[in-house]
Amino acid sequence: MENKRIGIIGGGIMGYGIAIVCLQANFKVIILDKYENSLMNAQKNIEDYFEKSLQKGKISLEKKNILLSNINFTTNLYDFTADYIIEAVPENLKLKQELFTEIEKNNPLSLLASNTSTIPITRIASAIQNPQNMIGIHFFNPAPLMKLVEIIPAEKTSDTTLQKTIEFVNSLQKQGVIVKDSPGFIVNRVARHYYLESLKILEENITDVQTIDNILENCGFKMGAFKLMDLIGVETNHSVTQSLYESYFYEPRFQPSIIQQKKVDAGLFGKKTKAGFYKYD
Ligand SMILES: NC(=O)c1ccc[n+]([C@@H]2O[C@H](COP(=O)([O-])OP(=O)(O)OC[C@H]3O[C@@H](n4cnc5c(N)ncnc54)[C@H](O)[C@@H]3O)[C@@H](O)[C@H]2O)c1
Repeated sequence: MENKRIGIIGGGIMGYGIAIVCLQANFKVIILDKYENSLMNAQKNIEDYFEKSLQKGKISLEKKNILLSNINFTTNLYDFTADYIIEAVPENLKLKQELFTEIEKNNPLSLLASNTSTIPITRIASAIQNPQNMIGIHFFNPAPLMKLVEIIPAEKTSDTTLQKTIEFVNSLQKQGVIVKDSPGFIVNRVARHYYLESLKILEENITDVQTIDNILENCGFKMGAFKLMDLIGVETNHSVTQSLYESYFYEPRFQPSIIQQKKVDAGLFGKKTKAGFYKYD
């Protein structure tokens, strides 16, 4: 993977975080986003991150400038070429399939990875010409901090794609774990109940958001469920639940929450909109 260019589709929370991780591992990076203002936000977040690293004495000014010179941004699908492509657009099967179908045309030999939280990779890969090139690579939020990466080979993923992905994840200094291709893989399947049960307690009016979070944190969880949903993006968390619910043929244990739906309808997405279950300055 040395000297390879990494292409990231979607410059949102995960896209820009993964870009930072790749830059730190000395890769060149290009981010594609449909919206100019999403790219501007991504650029600002990446610059702020490396500025903080500079202020903390973790990198020199020269290093910061080199890192920032290694990234490009584009809204043009046809300018977007890379050796290893990681998709991080919203959790929607059709959107992901359409993008990969287009991107594959200009990148027939590239490795194609999805950062989906729940959608089986085999299902995404069913739309493309070269499913042997596709794999799941699931980072966690915030990507620069979280060590774990789920690596998900699909039914038709080739051994070469899997081996190159393991090598790539190792080069990012992350802990890759190979998991089977099933809805939600392991982490999101388990974690769903953390969010859903907390939302149920709220819905049943047993206590408030802050108390639930305090209790969870006192039990040893790093972040309460509501703080975590605000960090992830309330709308992203909700669509992840919806996707899992559909994928498991509407099993009641994965049923989405009405309270969360209301937050989404009101545009209260959490930290990114300055209000979700909490308010932010
Ligand atoms: N947020 C999390 O904590 C988290 C963690 C792990 C995985 N994921 C998964 O990562 C993916 C992205 O999530 P996110 O939280 O970064 O979402 P986000 O909403 O923060 O970012 C999505 C980005 O995709 C862009 N986009 C939308 N349509 C596009 C298109 N047609 N072409 C190019 N760009 C487009 C948007 O402008 C936005 O910048 C989802 O599949 C999600 O399930 C999210």
